Amino acid sequence: MEENNILRIAMSRRSTRRFSSEPIEVKDVLYAVQVALQAPSGANRQPWRFIIIFDPEIKRGVRHLCEEWERKFHESQSLPKWFKEWLEERNISWEKPFLEEAPALIIVLADKKAPYSRESTWLAIGYILLALEEKGLASLTYTPANPQVISRYLDVPLNYTLEAIIPVGRSGENKVKESRLGLEDTVCIDRWGNNLELSSFPLAGYTRV
Ligand SMILES: Cc1cc2nc3c(=O)[nH]c(=O)nc-3n(C[C@H](O)[C@H](O)[C@H](O)COP(=O)(O)O)c2cc1C
Repeated sequence: MEENNILRIAMSRRSTRRFSSEPIEVKDVLYAVQVALQAPSGANRQPWRFIIIFDPEIKRGVRHLCEEWERKFHESQSLPKWFKEWLEERNISWEKPFLEEAPALIIVLADKKAPYSRESTWLAIGYILLALEEKGLASLTYTPANPQVISRYLDVPLNYTLEAIIPVGRSGENKVKESRLGLEDTVCIDRWGNNLELSSFPLAGYTRV
C-alpha cells in the first residue's frame, strides 16, 4: 500500500458546492457506504442508516424544502456577524443547487435510541467522505436548516434523526482547499500547554506528503 495514503486522500478532499452533470458509478457510492459500515460505534449498535437518492424528482423536492428553510436561516437577524461574512466570502447563500446537480444524495440517518448515536454516525460520515475522495468523487457535508421536514418528505420513521445530506458527483468548480491548522498548533504532549515541537519527533515526516 502506498505510504501515507489516507493522509494524501484527506489532504486532497475539499467540500464541493457545484457539481458537473457527468454521471457517476453507483458502485462507487455503495463502496463509500460499505466503508462507513466498518466505522466503530457505541456498543457496536451501528445506528446509521442511509437513503441514497438518484431520482431527479425527489432531489428537486429535497432542494425545494431545504431552500425554503435556508432562506429563513440566512435572513435571520440572529446570525453572528463573523458567520455572515464567512458565508459571503464563500458565496454560500440560501440557494442549494448542489441538491439537484449532484447525481446522488446520501441521506445519513441516526437511530436516536442507540448509545452515542450521533457520535457514531458522524464517524461513519467521515469514513464516507474519505472513501468518496479515494474514488475521485466530490462531496459536501450539508446539514439542512430543518432536517425534520426532509425526514417527513422521505418517510423516515420518527426514531431516526437526519444528520446530514451528502451530495456526490464530479466537481464542477475549481477551488482551493480551506487552510488547516498543523500538528504543532493542535497537539500537546503529556499535558496541556506542552506544545508539540515537530523537530523532537520522528513523526514529523508524516506532515509531508
Ligand atoms: C458538521 C458539519 C456541518 C456542515 N454543514 C455545512 C452546510 O450546512 N453547508 C455547507 O455548505 N457546508 C457545510 N459543511 C462543510 C464545511 O463548511 C467545510 O467542511 C469546511 O468549511 C472546511 O472546508 P473543506 O471541507 O473544503 O475542507 C459542514 C461540515 C461539517 C463537518
